[in-house]
Amino acid sequence: MHDGAAFGACGSDPADGERRLVHADAAVPRGGVRVRPEDRGADVRGPCAAGEASGGPYGAGRLGGGPVGPLLHGRLTGRAAAALPEPPASAARSRRNAPRSTRGPVTPTVPARSSLGQVTSKVSERIAPMKIAVIGGTGLIGSKLVARLAEHGHEAVPAAPSTGVNTLTGEGLAEVLSGASVVVDVSNSPSFADDAVMEFFRTSTANLLKAEADAGVTHHVALSVVGTERLQESGYFRAKQAQEELIRSSGIPYSIVHATQFFEFMKGIADAATDGGTVRLAPVGIQPVHSDDVAAAVGRTAVGTPVNGVVEVAGPDAFQLDELIRQGLAAKGDPREVVTDVHARYFGAELREDTLLPGPDAHLAATRFADWLAQQR
Ligand SMILES: NC(=O)c1ccc[n+]([C@@H]2O[C@H](COP(=O)([O-])OP(=O)(O)OC[C@H]3O[C@@H](n4cnc5c(N)ncnc54)[C@H](OP(=O)(O)O)[C@@H]3O)[C@@H](O)[C@H]2O)c1
Repeated sequence: MHDGAAFGACGSDPADGERRLVHADAAVPRGGVRVRPEDRGADVRGPCAAGEASGGPYGAGRLGGGPVGPLLHGRLTGRAAAALPEPPASAARSRRNAPRSTRGPVTPTVPARSSLGQVTSKVSERIAPMKIAVIGGTGLIGSKLVARLAEHGHEAVPAAPSTGVNTLTGEGLAEVLSGASVVVDVSNSPSFADDAVMEFFRTSTANLLKAEADAGVTHHVALSVVGTERLQESGYFRAKQAQEELIRSSGIPYSIVHATQFFEFMKGIADAATDGGTVRLAPVGIQPVHSDDVAAAVGRTAVGTPVNGVVEVAGPDAFQLDELIRQGLAAKGDPREVVTDVHARYFGAELREDTLLPGPDAHLAATRFADWLAQQR
């Protein structure tokens, strides 16, 4: 469905089979990803981390982007343009700490544009093609990931019920994992009902990890959501947390990619918050990301060294959730009214201003929401 953005943060594309960034500490993640202290005991960043890379991927010297665009019909002016350039790490920190407006137009409060692909690796090496099983490989992210990995010479095998692999029942798992070095889990529950989604992620993940141990898989990668640990009032996010805990305790080297909300998910957010003709949403920050960029980040992670922790990926701009949806619906001629409500629940959870926002060391992807939206028309 979506194509275009190639793998490529930090200049060298580890998924391309040609180049790879290599750090002296093989366990250190690349791409400025954050390994959470609870997972590794330290904030460790690789050679692409902010401050280490000339013109690095976190917007060094490139802050101060402009209005977001068509969805907003030129209404996104003002605060974005007022942002001053600053070093990327401090910029990220200051944005995290800055008070957010709870009213007003949808303004990208994080106008940093990630300058992917500008870091020069010190050491290069080839990555041998690998067999990578992609659980959920027929879904939104999975199908893009399979295509990208294959383009880069890997044997990427989509695994889903429609290809004869069912992680809930275990059907086809041993076969698809045979010979696989890496397993990427980008599956999702068909039902978001509390009990069903918990059953899905618990049972599927347990079956998968057991099959991986039997098959000798050496890297488990899973896609989860930024803020999962802060969203535990929600049945969906309790299930994602359960998935993550199973992975952490599995003994299999792992990487958990936390992404913010996909651009494609904005309508889903509106629908889930709709009661009659009213959409009730909190005035909180959201920093959505293009699914292509998520697939790229998951791909880079899959062909890299396990981080045994969490890496975060987000879009380049933050918005105010209620305003973003309000203007988005209006732009599409959707008659639903968006009511701002600080207590409005997001899939069952109340939100703070920064619940959905990434941390300061998140990898900021390149694709802007407005640019993506313009292409949808
Ligand atoms: N939506 C967001 O904004 C967002 C943000 C951050 C992270 N995430 C995470 O991203 C992940 C992928 O999301 P997505 O939107 O790409 O999912 P999706 O398009 O709904 O795809 C789900 C995939 O899971 C497969 N699947 C369902 N049941 C299965 C089973 N029993 N065994 C094996 N595979 C099964 C589906 O296969 P079939 O096609 O055969 O049904 C499909 O390939 C999710 O885990 C989600 O938590 C989402």
